[in-house]
Amino acid sequence: MSERTALVLGGTGMLKGCADELLAQGWQVVLPSRRPEGVLGGAAKAALRGGAHVPHVSGAEGARVAVAADWSRPAELADRVREVMEQPADLLVAWVHASYRDPVLRAVAPLLAPHAPVVEVHDSGAIQAVRGVPDPALDGHPTQQVVLGFVRHGGSTRWLSHEEASVGVLEAVHRALDGKAPSVHQVGEIDTWAARH
Ligand SMILES: NC(=O)c1ccc[n+]([C@@H]2O[C@H](COP(=O)([O-])OP(=O)(O)OC[C@H]3O[C@@H](n4cnc5c(N)ncnc54)[C@H](OP(=O)(O)O)[C@@H]3O)[C@@H](O)[C@H]2O)c1
Repeated sequence: MSERTALVLGGTGMLKGCADELLAQGWQVVLPSRRPEGVLGGAAKAALRGGAHVPHVSGAEGARVAVAADWSRPAELADRVREVMEQPADLLVAWVHASYRDPVLRAVAPLLAPHAPVVEVHDSGAIQAVRGVPDPALDGHPTQQVVLGFVRHGGSTRWLSHEEASVGVLEAVHRALDGKAPSVHQVGEIDTWAARH
């Protein structure tokens, strides 16, 4: 059994590097997503095609557990995650679109250890839409919030690279695991958001 379990929602896209780093540090990393085969090797893909819903892939250090689940069905997502969890999660990282965030986080809350820290990752567009960073979704879980912005180069702008986003989120993970007070950090530039704070 891995010593610590992290539940990472939205951890197979641009935050894959964040999940990989937790894995390298010995965590069991549980990764619900619609297309779990995307994070798996050949043998696990074959198992998935054979009907297995929950392929397990153990790395040299921790264990990556891919779970097929969709944010639009939060209760089912929580059930599928519960099936693979060996113990309550010690950490939740949530990169979940704003429209699904509250129902999904509330659904997985019972799967977290008491007072387990949460890292909520926000897209700056969603933050501007709701006029500021929302309150943390889960009471009783100290929450670090990260807002992902953009990078300006001369006259043009670009999204953060996947590495920049993962590094920024990992810094929040470390603040969370160090027991730092809940805070909001931005990665990159967020002009209208930054102007209001
Ligand atoms: N400020 C920024 O820097 C910023 C913000 C937003 C986007 N972007 C850029 O835009 C690109 C695309 O962004 P993205 O929003 O698609 O993020 P992403 O991190 O590339 O992918 C989204 C993650 O959420 C999962 N996911 C999405 N919908 C889901 C659902 N309904 N149920 C369960 N899991 C779900 C995806 O897995 P599945 O697809 O397998 O479900 C994946 O793990 C990024 O690569 C990035 O370059 C940048």
